[in-house]
Amino acid sequence: MVNSDRVIGAIDRRILGGFLEHMGRCVYGGVFDEQSPLSDNEGFRTDVIEAVRALKPPVLRWPGGNFVSGYHFTDGIGPVSGRPTRFDAAWRVEESNRFGTDEFMRYCELVGAEPYLCLNMGTGTLDEAREWLEYCNFAGRSAAADRRRANGRDAPYGVRYWGLGNEVYGDWQIGHKDAKEYVRTAREWAKVLTWTDPDVELVACGDTGWSDWDEVVVDGLAEFIRWYSLHIYTGSEDYWSDVLAPHQAERAVRITAALIEKARYNQRLAHPIHVAYDEWNVRVAARHAPAEHEETYTLADALAVATYLHAFVRRADVVKMANLAQLVNVLAPIMTSPTAMVLQSIYHPLRIFADHLEGEAVDVAVSCPSHDLDEILDNPQAHRVQDLGPFPVLDVVASRSSDGRTIMLSVVNRSPEDDVTAAIELAPGLDVQGARFERVHARDWRATNTFDHPDDVNVSTEVLEGFKNGVSECFPAHSHTVLSIAVG
Ligand code: AHR
Repeated sequence: MVNSDRVIGAIDRRILGGFLEHMGRCVYGGVFDEQSPLSDNEGFRTDVIEAVRALKPPVLRWPGGNFVSGYHFTDGIGPVSGRPTRFDAAWRVEESNRFGTDEFMRYCELVGAEPYLCLNMGTGTLDEAREWLEYCNFAGRSAAADRRRANGRDAPYGVRYWGLGNEVYGDWQIGHKDAKEYVRTAREWAKVLTWTDPDVELVACGDTGWSDWDEVVVDGLAEFIRWYSLHIYTGSEDYWSDVLAPHQAERAVRITAALIEKARYNQRLAHPIHVAYDEWNVRVAARHAPAEHEETYTLADALAVATYLHAFVRRADVVKMANLAQLVNVLAPIMTSPTAMVLQSIYHPLRIFADHLEGEAVDVAVSCPSHDLDEILDNPQAHRVQDLGPFPVLDVVASRSSDGRTIMLSVVNRSPEDDVTAAIELAPGLDVQGARFERVHARDWRATNTFDHPDDVNVSTEVLEGFKNGVSECFPAHSHTVLSIAVG
């Protein structure tokens, strides 16, 4: 039952954001490959640009990830021939710096995304962070802004989002700190960055949402931040664990929203603070070589990705940005070889959402069989979601377009074997004028798209003749269906 008059919140398309890290073949050989015949004269792979454009990412985060905690932006500006090659200690590889700030800004322009820069709070200094901000945003004269001009860009880029470090809480991070130490440093950085450019929106480095770090950091930085970042990776070779684990994101958002509300209330803050889920995805370590992080995604993973998007829509009031980690080759919807590109299973729900998501999330009630999860298998960092069950096999979200003329209904049938038929009831009195759907499916939930078999997981489109309020629709086993219902 879709209750389109009960609005949950305005949907923010920034939940369809992406993330590019200098890691494996994400940047070099993914989006950027100067030698490739598939690249334009600036070195960008044009086939990848087309695929990224279809995902319509409103925002792209860069340059890391773990990489950023040893990154100096000055290495990546100016004539390429003068840029140093450095050892990247995060991923233990060489970094040529052929792709730097200006190349990233250009890429954002090409794909229509807003840039989101993450600052180096590992080996970086506050002075360097401030200079990066000046390089990007300062309209007046300063050494850093003049370097931007000398490098061919007169007008400031106006970068709005700046992340205060990446995963600073983890001992895998260069410059790892405890929460109090991080807050002390980040408050100073935040103060000076906002003095440098009062229009920036700072993103605090959050953890899972439910950790002790989160309590200390939300409280300590609320005064300065517009965004609180969370990271989540789930994934399992066990089907049910894989498709249900994304519900953990909803627990994270519930807890974080409460921490934010507590800080805003106690500190009498008027400005909003939203959650930026700036790294999220399915990741199964056992499925890829540790250095490459190139993961082949199954249809089950695509259902998990659709469920993540549902989680963000259900909490549209809190989650206003999310960045799939990552965009190309590394944990990615888009894979490249020197001569070709393939769209993985997880690409499809993202692309469909890019085409249909807007307006307001509205309430929907679902009645269908459910599944109890006994345990999460195969993932040592498993998130325990059993207590969130029983889980309806149909996971559903709905939205109403801003002009009020389309109801979008997104339905993931997580049952591995059973089709589920459900009556779709819209608010009484709605004049239904037609409906169509796009469906992600394959014969088997283990299906993957590879260079040899690029279409095993595919999308079908159908116009539903005679669709009317209350009509029953069949949702096939292990599928994701997005219905667009035109209403008068
Ligand atoms: O996305 C891959 C890595 O996962 C990122 O560098 C890091 O932030 C996270 O741990």
